[in-house]
Amino acid sequence: MTNFVETHAIEHKAVTDDGFVTCAHPALFFRRWLANPLQMGSVVPSSAALCQRIVRQVRRAPDEAVIELGAGTGVVSRALLASGTPAERLFVVEIVPEMAAHLRRSLPGANVIEGDARRLPELIPAAWHGRIGSVVCGIPLVLLPFAEQRRFLDAIEAVAPGRGFLHFSYCAISPLPARRHRLAARREAWTPLNFPPASVWRYTPLATRSNPRPVGACPAEADRR
Ligand SMILES: C[S@@+](CC[C@H](N)C(=O)[O-])C[C@H]1O[C@@H](n2cnc3c(N)ncnc32)[C@H](O)[C@@H]1O
Repeated sequence: MTNFVETHAIEHKAVTDDGFVTCAHPALFFRRWLANPLQMGSVVPSSAALCQRIVRQVRRAPDEAVIELGAGTGVVSRALLASGTPAERLFVVEIVPEMAAHLRRSLPGANVIEGDARRLPELIPAAWHGRIGSVVCGIPLVLLPFAEQRRFLDAIEAVAPGRGFLHFSYCAISPLPARRHRLAARREAWTPLNFPPASVWRYTPLATRSNPRPVGACPAEADRR
């Protein structure tokens, strides 16, 4: 385990050698997993390979911001910054106080918010509602019952209407019952270079009579549940 964790940390250092503090803090991550495995959903931070696949899917107009939910020790956040998201336009939300403190130290200039992503509309300043290019969700939604998943999805829709969100997951199939949530699902990327191997999914609201053309609409690849 130690060697594997070290490999992950070293990998991140190589990718994010850009002036930001590069510590993925695998020890903190593992400790939090021991304390609350369902909340963490993973034993180690996402690999550099997965982070790269996530940030490639991010869309943002120059006047828009990006939100990351469940930032953990900040490996995806740092990849977002390294790929060009300005720190002042990055909002990272993390529920664990110790992790939020680590994020504040290691992501200078970014908007680190300690809080529950289900309360996203209260956490993100109103001036940014509707000005969000992409939402990246790392919270393990697959482990939650449908009604709980819905609370996260409603919170995202409230601040980024019509945009949908990116979600990474270790499931072989869609981690969310997309059709039941009235979402289109598309697997954008997969990598074996993560523990466990992971996919990046894009979920976008399905067209409805009141909203025939959702902003982030993509052709659905899969609704397997
Ligand atoms: C699978 S980890 C992902 C961490 C990081 N993004 C990465 O890729 O390494 C999930 C993270 O979501 C956080 N989390 C779980 N429930 C949350 C909630 N309701 N609001 C905000 N963060 C939450 C956990 O504390 C944990 O840091």
